Amino acid sequence: MSSQSQQRGELESALAKRQLIMLPGPTNVPDRILSAMSKPMINHRGPEFRELLTRISQNAQYAFQTKKDVFVFSSSGTGGVEAAFQNIISPGDKVLVPVFGLFSQRMKEIIEVCGGVPVEITCEWGSGPTPSQVEEKIKKEKVKAVGLVYNETSTGTTVRGLKEIAKIAKDNGALIVVDAISILAGDECPVDKWNIDICITGSQKCLAAPPGVALVSVSEDAWNTVRRTKIGSVYFSLINMKESLDKGETPFTPAIPVFYALDEALCMLIEEGLGNRIRRHRICAEAFYAGLPAMGLKLFAEDAFRSNMVIAVRNPDGLDDKTFLTNLRRKYRVIISGGMGKLKGQTYRIGNMGSISPDEVITTIGCMGSALMDAGIKADVGAGILAAREKFTNY
Ligand SMILES: Cc1ncc(COP(=O)(O)O)c(C=O)c1O
Repeated sequence: MSSQSQQRGELESALAKRQLIMLPGPTNVPDRILSAMSKPMINHRGPEFRELLTRISQNAQYAFQTKKDVFVFSSSGTGGVEAAFQNIISPGDKVLVPVFGLFSQRMKEIIEVCGGVPVEITCEWGSGPTPSQVEEKIKKEKVKAVGLVYNETSTGTTVRGLKEIAKIAKDNGALIVVDAISILAGDECPVDKWNIDICITGSQKCLAAPPGVALVSVSEDAWNTVRRTKIGSVYFSLINMKESLDKGETPFTPAIPVFYALDEALCMLIEEGLGNRIRRHRICAEAFYAGLPAMGLKLFAEDAFRSNMVIAVRNPDGLDDKTFLTNLRRKYRVIISGGMGKLKGQTYRIGNMGSISPDEVITTIGCMGSALMDAGIKADVGAGILAAREKFTNY
């Protein structure tokens, strides 16, 4: 069999019987959202699209808890991060950026590519920056902005001090740009209340839509800077986006099927209620954090930085990560992620996002434990399931 037809075989087998996607994005997508994508094509400069985009941007304001415009780029989340920095950085501007994993490392690279000078706070992977570290640095170096990855997906950490860090940035005359790609709508992120200037998320995480669009909110302070910046991008110009949004359009051809899906995903968020969705994510995370150690696995992130969206566990001694992940996928049809960057081979990451619910948590713990046992690693599957189940007693 050629390797191409072998690959097609894997894809067909995945489609024939659904896999449980427990990745830190993309997530499982509810059928309602998937079927929304099969609607017919429409004119992206016509009244139907205008209605669609207007509803999406209004409903996205609910998700971001903002009264400001939310723009939707046909790009993955990284496009949103590039858009943020392209629109506020002039050559030589300093931007404070805590680096504590692969995505914050990438944010630093984006700042450099946009002509900025990163002022780095380096943190241990598995932890993250504290407000006092940011305050100390910002008092020493005059920065135009602070760039922060709120949920570092590569290590399973959340910056619990974001609210304070945003205030420190404001008090010191800096903008705050937040990559909330893997957390918005799954944990607290009240953009206006916390004075976040530019906030970015992606469709494929806690919104439970397919990948393909980035959403970006922009504050009044950020606009004041954007208007004075010579923007180094045509596609990612916020000025172009604003002119088009005011007409109910996007400057360039939008990924219409993903917009349909996002529309449905946002309607589902509103039906559930943001508070309920955040609570559901928190309870499921608590169940993972109880169940996995009870089964015998060690958690990776420091307690104070633990993410409710990405559960990172250490690879037990003697376990070949590739064989384990392949067995988990082929035999149990559960897909989790391996470690990223320097944590490759050392950690596993479970996505706890979007449509996550008790059955997925219990199934994942049970299947992971079974796959560990298949590999000859001691795992108390029963204890893991019982410990997780307890967290759902009043679910
Ligand atoms: C925190 C964070 N930032 C940026 C990205 C990049 O997003 P994308 O792959 O959609 O470009 C991801 C993706 O997982 C992420 O989790």
